[in-house]
Order: sequence, then structure tokens, then C-alpha cells
Amino acid sequence: MKLLAFSLSLRQSSYNRKLIKRVEQIVQTSKIEIEVLDLLQYEMPAYNADIQENPGFPEAAERFRKKLESAQGVIIASPEYNFSYPGHFKNTFDWISRYRPMPWANKVALFLSASPSLVGGNRGLWHLRVPFEACGTFVYPEMFSLATANQAFNESDELIDSVAQKRLTDLVLSFLRYVEGLQYINF
Ligand SMILES: Cc1cc2nc3c(=O)[nH]c(=O)nc-3n(C[C@H](O)[C@H](O)[C@H](O)COP(=O)(O)O)c2cc1C
Repeated sequence: MKLLAFSLSLRQSSYNRKLIKRVEQIVQTSKIEIEVLDLLQYEMPAYNADIQENPGFPEAAERFRKKLESAQGVIIASPEYNFSYPGHFKNTFDWISRYRPMPWANKVALFLSASPSLVGGNRGLWHLRVPFEACGTFVYPEMFSLATANQAFNESDELIDSVAQKRLTDLVLSFLRYVEGLQYINF
């Protein structure tokens, strides 16, 4: 079984990228494979049905769809932009949602966020749930939001607060148990 993991922040020193690094390390302690993607490698033009018709799907959408097909689901860390999630990802999501069969359907998803604020970017994750659930993804009910993320990591990008690290580890491991359980269900 394999999961994809990626940050919706594109900047190099992103707190959400750092969170994905922590998640990668946790998943590597399990039997489930994890592949971290960099969405900078999957930039797509704004969705336009005319482009879809001719010349067709952007090659970045083709590559992303193939990655998604190779995995059971995704772990996403998102910054909060104006109480929601970054617009570039809605565009990616929309392109991928035009393939048939629907690539997002019957996948699993775990959502995380990190923000310098005290809310940790959690409000954006509620918006992120909507398109996923609309397209048939099993979004894990529990989420993780890292508050004051600008003070949360040490120089090795580890979480300084052991309580936060334990909460993240517990959540990721319980998500992995859920993913393993779902493989016995025939969709
Ligand atoms: C367009 C924009 C809107 C933002 N809106 C919010 C917001 O609503 N809530 C919040 O906590 N932070 C907001 N921020 C600040 C981000 O949380 C901050 O830039 C954070 O570092 C982004 O995550 P990253 O470190 O993974 O890039 C916003 C930043 C940008 C660029």
C-alpha cells in the first residue's frame, strides 16, 4: 500500500513542508510506503474546458493523475490562506476531477495544517474537505493543526514540543490503521 504526501505551500522553507517531513518519518516506521510530492513539479494552467478539449489535459495533470492512481490516498499539509486553502490546489483538484473514472473517488485522505497563528490554519482544512468529500474521498475525521508554527521547529526541522510530536504520531498511526482496514472493503 502506498500514500502520497504533499504540502499545499510552495515556498521552500514552508512550515507545512516541514510537517510533511515529520509525517514521512512516521509513516516510514510502518509497512505502508510513502512518496512525497512537490507540487511545484505539477503546475497547471487555470482550468478551461476549451483547453481540456483541445489540446487536452496538461501533461502535469497526466503525471499527477498517474501518481494518484498508484496510491491508496493522500496526506496533505495546507497553509491557511484567508480562512481557506491555497487557490492553486483547487485548480489542480479541478483538473484531476475531470478524468473518468473519478481519480479522487475511493481514496483516503488525512489533512494537516501549520500556521504562525494560534488557530494553526485549521479553518482552511474545513474548506479543503468539501471538494474531496464531493468527489468521493474518505477524508479522515480527525485533523492536526500546528499553532505558532514559526516557533515550532528546531534547526533539524523537528517539532520542539514533544506533546505536539506525540499528537501527530498518534494521529498518523491511527490513520494508517484505518487505511489498512479499508483495504478489506470491496468498493
Ligand atoms: C494570501 C495569504 C493569506 C493568508 N491568510 C492566512 C489566514 O487566513 N490564516 C492564517 O493563519 N495565516 C494566513 N496567512 C499566513 C500563513 O499562515 C503563513 O504565511 C504561513 O507561513 C504559510 O504557511 P507555510 O509556512 O507552509 O508557507 C496567509 C498568507 C498568505 C500568503
